[in-house]
Amino acid sequence: MPATQPVLIHDADLAPLNTFRLPARADSLLRLATAEQLHALIRAPGWGQQPRLVLGGGSNLILTGDFPGLVLKVEIVGRRLVVETEGDDGGAWIVEAGAGENWHDFVRWTLAQGWPGLENLSLIPGTVGAAPIQNIGAYGVEMMERFDSLDAVDLATGEMREFSLADCAFAYRDSVFKHQPGRWLVTHVRFRLPRRWQPVTHYADVAAELASRRIAEPGALDVSDAVIAIRRRKLPDPAEIGNAGSFFKNPVVDAAVWAQLAAQHPAMPHYAQPDGSIKLAAGWLIDQAGWKGRDLGPVGCYERQALVLVNRGGASGADVEHIAAAIRADVEARFGVRLEPEPVFV
Ligand code: EPU
Repeated sequence: MPATQPVLIHDADLAPLNTFRLPARADSLLRLATAEQLHALIRAPGWGQQPRLVLGGGSNLILTGDFPGLVLKVEIVGRRLVVETEGDDGGAWIVEAGAGENWHDFVRWTLAQGWPGLENLSLIPGTVGAAPIQNIGAYGVEMMERFDSLDAVDLATGEMREFSLADCAFAYRDSVFKHQPGRWLVTHVRFRLPRRWQPVTHYADVAAELASRRIAEPGALDVSDAVIAIRRRKLPDPAEIGNAGSFFKNPVVDAAVWAQLAAQHPAMPHYAQPDGSIKLAAGWLIDQAGWKGRDLGPVGCYERQALVLVNRGGASGADVEHIAAAIRADVEARFGVRLEPEPVFV
């Protein structure tokens, strides 16, 4: 049984709690094992007065300095089948997990149960509760496509609220929660895993990996294994090298801007969006600007995927901001395209 009182730590070290391994301290840190532990806290005097930061796996976070407030580290666990639905679409397994569950372990657990749908999102660092904040996506699937609903606590009032798909306003690496930092603490997330399942293998990397394994009709576990192999080849393991995954979002430009870019740079990768806009590959732009494999101080642009910045050792938040600004300026000067960071800056 989890303790009824959450664990409170004063002057907490945040370096081990962010995957970029940036040095920072917080005035205090609470480790929350249940949603109920929050309610007493929110009623306590002094609650509304200090800044708050909700922390999951710390894998999409850039700490630019010490945090003068309370960090809420979400450690709510548990995973279960809520219900098996039927319907014209063939039905679905509705599966719930506590926000503190490790994302990848949860994905592999669903696959082991025979519930497909999350396999393309294998090996993404972080927690279940963080997945909806930036609507994680990879290899042709976004979390929102498998989302059912979530529970969150309003940290201003203590009120518990259920969010539907529409309530979350998901978009590419975006949600309503990203625009209200410190307001909501996600406690549980439910996913809708389709019984009538089709593998998503149109990404070139996935198709090539499956072909090299001589798998013509992949099951969900095959796709998961392929994605794991691709990610291990391309992306640094945060357990070995500090990083926060993709550091910039892939920029989206309108058709007129794209027409000019295409004329000047015929080889530029581009992906047409349903609304007629064009998504560009930030990794390619950064690579072409000569940054791939280059360091500026203790932060490097990763040699196998230019979209990822890595901590070569001893980096601070200021060092990260320094190289990020230099890369942005170079890409803008060369292509006229502005890059926006993907992680949350605190
Ligand atoms: N490219 C280069 N040089 C590089 C990196 C990429 O030329 O150094 C080119 C590639 O050859 C390819 C294109 O850029 O033509 C796109 O590269 P890739 O397929 O590796 O994907 P990405 O757009 O760089 C996005 C996500 C990743 C996700 C992959 C696979 C964003 C910001 N990133 O990367 O997500 O794993 O697609 O779906 O959307 C993350 O968000 O942390 C993340 C890793």
